[in-house]
Amino acid sequence: MRVLVTGGAGFIGSHVCDRLTARGSEVVIVDSLEPFYDPAIKRRNIAGVLASGLARFVQADIADPDAIDAAAGDDTIDAVIHLAARAGVRPSLENPAGYVRTNVEGTVSILEFANRRGIRPFVMASSSSVYGDNAPVPFSEELPAATPISPYAATKRAGELLCHVYAHLYGLSVICLRLFTVYGPRQRPDLAIHKFARLMSAGRSIPFYGDGSTERDYTYVADIVHGIEGALDWAVAADAGAFETVNLGENTTTSLSRLVEMLSAELKVEAKLEHLGSQPGDVDRTFASIDKARALIGYDPCTSMVEGIHRFIEWFKVQPLT
Ligand SMILES: NC(=O)c1ccc[n+]([C@@H]2O[C@H](COP(=O)([O-])OP(=O)(O)OC[C@H]3O[C@@H](n4cnc5c(N)ncnc54)[C@H](O)[C@@H]3O)[C@@H](O)[C@H]2O)c1
Repeated sequence: MRVLVTGGAGFIGSHVCDRLTARGSEVVIVDSLEPFYDPAIKRRNIAGVLASGLARFVQADIADPDAIDAAAGDDTIDAVIHLAARAGVRPSLENPAGYVRTNVEGTVSILEFANRRGIRPFVMASSSSVYGDNAPVPFSEELPAATPISPYAATKRAGELLCHVYAHLYGLSVICLRLFTVYGPRQRPDLAIHKFARLMSAGRSIPFYGDGSTERDYTYVADIVHGIEGALDWAVAADAGAFETVNLGENTTTSLSRLVEMLSAELKVEAKLEHLGSQPGDVDRTFASIDKARALIGYDPCTSMVEGIHRFIEWFKVQPLT
């Protein structure tokens, strides 16, 4: 099987490519290496998988249909895993139009590509942020998810809705995965765990939003990759026109205060806090129901937060300073 992975040089995408090639699939990585964070990190992320001989990399913008066609070339593509996006809630408040271009126009462009080429299985990364604030917990896929509170969340929900349209009209078999704050080796440098670890090990204070009681369902990247693999297998086996939306979380939450304690213990550094107000666009709590993921795609997350933070810090300690 040959899979086109958009955003394959990023944090989650590069792990997905590692896994796909480990199980013998070929991978076409399409990524613009956009400079939201250092492209050199993204090149490092895929150095190993490119050396496997089962992957090739094309630098291209998903919102440019000609570039995507050229990236695929004459290769037969059997499935698409669509992970490319402008990620992050807070930066989306600064640049909503940029988020719409990549996350909405870019998603249409990739759906069009799949439809043109007759590629049916389609997996897309969505986000827990689509549930908005104050949704009843644990978040169930049955909720309408109609009240996003950031441009990022709105573009992710729009991407899901467009996926539904292409399943309905053109028979793509689509599964949208609502990912809950993902962490682990290669985590994006802007995300809290990585950012806090970097600042704490440099003896600097960390931005601490609100009173520390906000909670996240942090999900270890290997568990997410297992879920994406299950979703791909589901999409390959599904009937034409099938469409599902599925949460991928750990079904457990950690407060911001507890997260800082865990990082302090693992780094053996006392955290200095810079107290700041709560951030517009951020929700108070995310908490995934994963019953549907277990039943539909055999998802079975197994990495505790303590173990996951330990593995992240082991990786973090050997990273070059950028
Ligand atoms: N990391 C999380 O906690 C999290 C949570 C929920 C959802 N997600 C979603 O998972 C996916 C992957 O996130 P990540 O954390 O690995 O982010 P990432 O930024 O590391 O990876 C995204 C990749 O997409 C690429 N990209 C961006 N715009 C592009 C464009 N126009 N054309 C081609 N490539 C482009 C980037 O260069 C990057 O390598 C995203 O869709 C994100 O919204 C992530």
